[in-house]
Amino acid sequence: MGAYAEAYRRSLADPEGFWREAAEIIDWTAEPSRALDAGAAPFYRWFPGGELNTCANALDRHVAGGAGERTALIWDSAMVDPSRTPARRSFTYRELRDEVARVAGALAALGVGKGDRVVVYMPMVPEAVMTMLACARIGAVHSVVFGGFAAKELAARIEDARPTLVVAASCGLEPARVVEYQPILERALELSAHRPEHTLMLQRDACPADLTLPGYLDWDEVVPAAEPADPVPVASDDPLYILYTSGTTGKPKGVLRTAGGHAVALAWSMGAVYDVHAGDVFWTVSDVGWVVGHSYIVYGPLLVGATTVVYEGKPVGTPDAGAFWRIVQEHRVKTIFTAPTAIRAIKKADPEAAELGKYDTTTLAALYLAGERLDPETYHWASRVLGVPVTDHWWQTETGWPIAANPRGLEALPVKPGSATVPVPGWDVRVLDESGAPVPAGREGEIAIRLPLPPGALATLWGDDDRFVESYLSRHEGHYHTGDSGHLDADGHLFVMGRIDDVINVAGHRLSTGAIEAALATHPAVAECAVIGVPDPLKGQVPYGLIVLKAGAEAAGDDAAKLRAELVEAVRRDVGAVAAFREASIVPALPKTRSGKILRRTMRGIAGGRDEPVPPTIEDASVLEALTPILRNRL
Ligand code: COA
Ligand code: AMP
Repeated sequence: MGAYAEAYRRSLADPEGFWREAAEIIDWTAEPSRALDAGAAPFYRWFPGGELNTCANALDRHVAGGAGERTALIWDSAMVDPSRTPARRSFTYRELRDEVARVAGALAALGVGKGDRVVVYMPMVPEAVMTMLACARIGAVHSVVFGGFAAKELAARIEDARPTLVVAASCGLEPARVVEYQPILERALELSAHRPEHTLMLQRDACPADLTLPGYLDWDEVVPAAEPADPVPVASDDPLYILYTSGTTGKPKGVLRTAGGHAVALAWSMGAVYDVHAGDVFWTVSDVGWVVGHSYIVYGPLLVGATTVVYEGKPVGTPDAGAFWRIVQEHRVKTIFTAPTAIRAIKKADPEAAELGKYDTTTLAALYLAGERLDPETYHWASRVLGVPVTDHWWQTETGWPIAANPRGLEALPVKPGSATVPVPGWDVRVLDESGAPVPAGREGEIAIRLPLPPGALATLWGDDDRFVESYLSRHEGHYHTGDSGHLDADGHLFVMGRIDDVINVAGHRLSTGAIEAALATHPAVAECAVIGVPDPLKGQVPYGLIVLKAGAEAAGDDAAKLRAELVEAVRRDVGAVAAFREASIVPALPKTRSGKILRRTMRGIAGGRDEPVPPTIEDASVLEALTPILRNRL
């Protein structure tokens, strides 16, 4: 039996022994009494009785172990104006620990204690990472909100998390514009029923915020003056963070991650999945606002003593398609992790990879891709031009770390383009039909995971155990419902093909069609609307709106163009630019079932070029017939 097969078998046959052994990577202030407590199933607890501090594991213990002078974090910005602001900063483990201790002290002085929430609304700056770690240091719970979200989305998160404090930066830097965060934050605080007393604001040169407004404090005054705070031990199942993700409704789900299982699973995955160890340079090109950023910009690499690269910029246009290769050369990157869309953007701008030839990328050993399916064409292109292993791997905000991957740190398995390779140890992956019965190898079905989920997966939804059970655990008894469909082949390789529900994935960003529909519905001319994800060669999917107008509303010529522009603006205002909503068709009616449910899945299939059967429950088949050419013509 190979190393992977043996580890996988053992993880399921003896989870207690497997994860106890894995837990030895972590420094515990109190050893857990056991690995798994199933007493309150389906609310499983990992490492009960254990106490630890995640920040101490990510920083202090490396300093104590003699690695204080090793580089912990390199920040590289392609966005700042280097004549005003340094575009590179780097921190050793000792420096990062000292900075984080001061930030932690500042948070504590502002009244943040164990269990209190801190909403972090910051772009890709080192202070965002410091704030996350500082929360962990004092047992507070961070909830980072991606900078591309609009005020309404931010408000929903503030209202649900009820933070003691908001930590923000004055702006984010996008290629075409400076995104001022203060007006978005102010609007969100107006919309939210909860308003924390203070906002700690990091001023950036490109656009300083107005700190005379009530409640604002200046990072540069408060943090340097703060007393450094020591790490506070927390219980294994105390919350580490809440990260909101899109469900099918407009209301985001607060995925709750607990401290002990998270630290063990992430540290274990760094070696087993990514083959990244102390001293290696690991670069995840994502954003701290997403789970990929939480797990593999911040916690994973630091927990194992690696060097993490924090990049503010894009794969192309900042300034060119050589940006990735410049960073590999400059910072001696061993492993890159990004989304396939970033590679497609580079391929589109530089199909022969001429930029690559300008840099010395010999340190690069592997490329990992996730966030959406790695299409075989992109896989082949990246493999050819880079000449290093290219690994698709599949996971979700909820799971926190990869469910399926080529576990190169354990054993490099044969690659099948289009497949995320095999289930990672700890994840008992099953493919089921609608009734919950397993489907034979090769047949597509719903991908589910047999409980218990391994350490590091979501513990529940913040403040809503019922919604957790209802959303994830109630579809098939004893299984976690991933929301994805796909198949396992005869060799046990997993192919993840797409969502079963109405969640869409735009440039690796997960969005709710419900939230976009709610934004469209605010337009006075809209009677009814539906949003579906349609294929896009660069972003994987983009949202597409089908709009039914109110009687008497005009929709021809200039009026239609004006309406479209207003709809685009409504989505940018309520959801954010990141939704990339640009396309809408005005249609006479939406196809529905007899019980009134809009047939989004059928429309999505047709727009994706598939032959979709007409559902037997359809209310009026002629509505779908009339729509079919419109959907097909998008292709
Ligand atoms: N803050 C504010 N606005 C943001 C933002 C942020 N953090 N991130 C994106 N936006 C805005 C962009 O400015 C853009 O606005 P515009 O419509 O005014 O131009 C819009 O959201 C869409 O942005 P983006 O998704 O970046 O698309 P793009 O067309 O500008 O670039 C790619 C396309 C492929 C280069 C880009 O999507 C990319 O770099 N993807 C990497 C994938 C990734 O990091 N995925 C994360 C999960 S692993
Ligand atoms: P998020 O929670 O934002 O990370 O999005 C998770 C969703 O993205 C998954 O449920 C999948 O639909 C999709 N996804 C992520 N990685 C992959 C992958 N490697 N292959 C296919 N789909 C993926």
